Parts: sequence; C-alpha cells; structure tokens
Amino acid sequence: MTTKTRGLEGVVATTSSISSIINDVLTYRGYSIDDLAENASFEEVVYLLWKGKLPTVRELSEMKEQLGANADLPQEIIAQMKAYSVNSVHPMAALRTAISTLGLYDQEADSLCENANYRKAIRIQAKIPSIVATFSRIREGKDPLSPRKDLSFAANFLYMLNGKEPDEIAVNAFNKALVLHADHELNASTFTGRVCVATLSDIYSGITAAIGALKGPLHGGANERVMKMLSEIYEVENIDLYLQKAFANKEKIMGFGHRVYKSGDPRAKHLREMSKRLTEITGESKWYDMSIKMEQIIKSEKGLVPNVDFYSASVYHSLGIKHDLFTPIFAISRMSGWLAHVLEQYSNNRLIRPRADYVGMKNQTYVRIEKRQ
Ligand code: ACO
Repeated sequence: MTTKTRGLEGVVATTSSISSIINDVLTYRGYSIDDLAENASFEEVVYLLWKGKLPTVRELSEMKEQLGANADLPQEIIAQMKAYSVNSVHPMAALRTAISTLGLYDQEADSLCENANYRKAIRIQAKIPSIVATFSRIREGKDPLSPRKDLSFAANFLYMLNGKEPDEIAVNAFNKALVLHADHELNASTFTGRVCVATLSDIYSGITAAIGALKGPLHGGANERVMKMLSEIYEVENIDLYLQKAFANKEKIMGFGHRVYKSGDPRAKHLREMSKRLTEITGESKWYDMSIKMEQIIKSEKGLVPNVDFYSASVYHSLGIKHDLFTPIFAISRMSGWLAHVLEQYSNNRLIRPRADYVGMKNQTYVRIEKRQ
C-alpha cells in the first residue's frame, strides 16, 4: 500500500487538458474563466471544451445547428416524465432517470467509436435543457414547449421553462452562469463519470452516474440548500442568531468551503456581482444583503469563503427559477464538462481502480447459521 488520503484529497488521478485550477485560478483550455465569463457564449465554451479551441464563425454556427436539430425529446421520455411527475419527484432524480432512459432510444448508445461518441455528446447536450424545462412544465400542469432553434442555448432554456422569450438581461446573466459552471477539473461528478466510462461502459451510463454525484448536498445540491437557508433566515437581522446556532451545532453552512480553493473560488466574484445587479432589478436586494453579511461573518469566524453555489442561489432565484431546479441547471451547464471529460477518458483509457486500506476483522471462520449467537 502506498499513499492513502481521506476523500482522495491531493491525489492526482489523471492527466487532462480540459480545465485547470492552479493557484486558485480556473482556466478552460488555457483561457481564464474571467475572460470567458465576460466574453463567451455558452455554445462557444461547449465547443472549446470538446474541441480544444474556440470556434470560427462557421464552426460555431454548425455547432448551434447541431444542438438545435437534436433538442427535441422522444415522445417516450415525455410520457415517462408525465407518469412520474405526480409523485413529488425531485427534478434531479427525474433528470438522472431521463438521461438513462434516453440511452434506450439511442441506436448508437453502445458504440464506443469516436464519431458515435461525439454525436451522442451533441444529442445529450442538446436535450438536457429540454428535459429540465419539460419536467418543470409537466409538474405544473402545463404543456411542454418545443425548443426554439432561433434562440441561443441560454435564451431557449428560459423560453422553454417560462413560455415567454426572456429579456436580454436574463439571457446574459443565465449565459454567464452557464459559462461559469461548465467545467471544473476533477470534481466529484466529473470523476464519477470518468470512473464509469473507464470500464468501457457507455456515455449514457457515465453521465447518469455523474448526475447522481452532482445531486448530493456536498456538491451541486448545495445551491438549492443555500436558497432554503436564506429563505429560512429571511431577514438580515436574523443572520447572527442563525449562524451562532449553526456554529454551535457544528453544522455545515451550504455554499461555503471548498476542497481545492483556499483563498477563494474565482467563480464566486462574478456570481456575487450578478446577484447584486439582479436583486436590485427585482427589488429583492435583501437576498444579496443577507449573502454579503453571511460571507463577512463566516469568513471572520471560520475562515471559510463562498464557493460557486453560494451566490448562484440568489442569481437563479432572481431569474424566477424554482429552487429545486437550481441543481438541474448546474447539470445543464456541467454536462459540457462531463462530456469533454468522458471523451478524453475514452481517448486514452485505463481502468480506474484504486485500493482500500483494509481495517476490518481478520482470520474469521465460518459458523453454521444454527450455531450463530
Ligand atoms: N461550513 C462549516 N464548516 C465547514 C464548511 C462549511 N461549509 N466547510 C468546511 N468546514 C469545516 C469542516 O467542518 C472541517 O472542520 P474541522 O477540521 O474542524 O472538522 C474543515 O472545515 C474541513 O472541511 P472538510 O469537510 O473536511 O473539507 P472537504 O474538503 O472535505 O469538503 C466541502 C469540502 C464538501 C465543499 C465542504 O466545504 C462543505 O461541506 N461545504 C458545504 C457544502 C457545499 O457548499 N458544497 C458545494 C461545494 S462546490 C461544488 O461542489 C460545486
């Protein structure tokens, strides 16, 4: 047995040329996240992550066309969502199931050839916004809407969700949030996806596994819980008492802390700024004010700083998005990173199989059941 570390902290498990976190700076294919957040469309980022370069005008328009052409869902998926939407199913569970089911209707599901895998990546990325929006509408008793091929990726999702074309401010904010969440090196869900496809299982299995990992509150599930916490606290005046109790009970405060970043998550500053602007527009600055106060206290008392999930909560809330859709929205964006990573894994695969340090009982002898105490 060589090194062992709880939670694989500090372990370098693979090489990758997709995204890097070096000295708390996040880059996608060498472009800083700050640069991309200010300038890039999400479709450009998808192309960058998958192909390793920013697209030309022609390449971008081809990718948009492919995404548009593949955005419709099979009727079977819609029928299935209608069946399970009645049982207060969490949208992350619905999404995980829908992605797995999509594989049943893809003739190329089990092909591992590079071109087939790329075609599947397009299909999955194209369909994930349709799945999330369709499920949301069905459970509200509304008819699902067909995707609009004339709209950007960000605008189309908001349109399919709300049934009306979003304004420019909402589209720009949502696009930026998508860009900021698109990839993040070997985070838990990406690692899960890579482990799965490293057995040479199919892309749908890898992505389904990744969605399962994102769902947890220590990972992507934190953003929904941040809004729950802010809603429970409700007013700036209640923060001190809430945090005193949380600290005394050694509770984890959702949206704070990070395994890799110690001085700060570089995505948080963009989301903080967006939260300020959007809450001013909606007339609900209190969510921003509360977040700022929490950030100050938690930093000074615990030395913890906000991660990507903290300010994204008030951003999505301000965009009128239901709180339990926050994590599925994270998945819409992170899908691009997961797919880039599973494609990279297939291209240079080796089974991922670490060891466990056995600490259980030894030298036991089988006792027949009737003689056991
Ligand atoms: N609130 C209170 N204390 C915290 C928090 C927090 N959010 N995060 C870390 N700590 C404390 C721990 O209690 C621990 O203290 P101790 O040494 O006295 O026991 C210490 O800081 C180290 O924390 P770990 O949980 O060991 O750190 P780890 O690297 O394993 O976990 C994680 C990182 C999961 C993000 C953690 O900070 C956490 O649970 N945060 C809250 C959930 C969250 O926001 N998740 C989203 C992360 S970003 C993303 O995945 C998209």
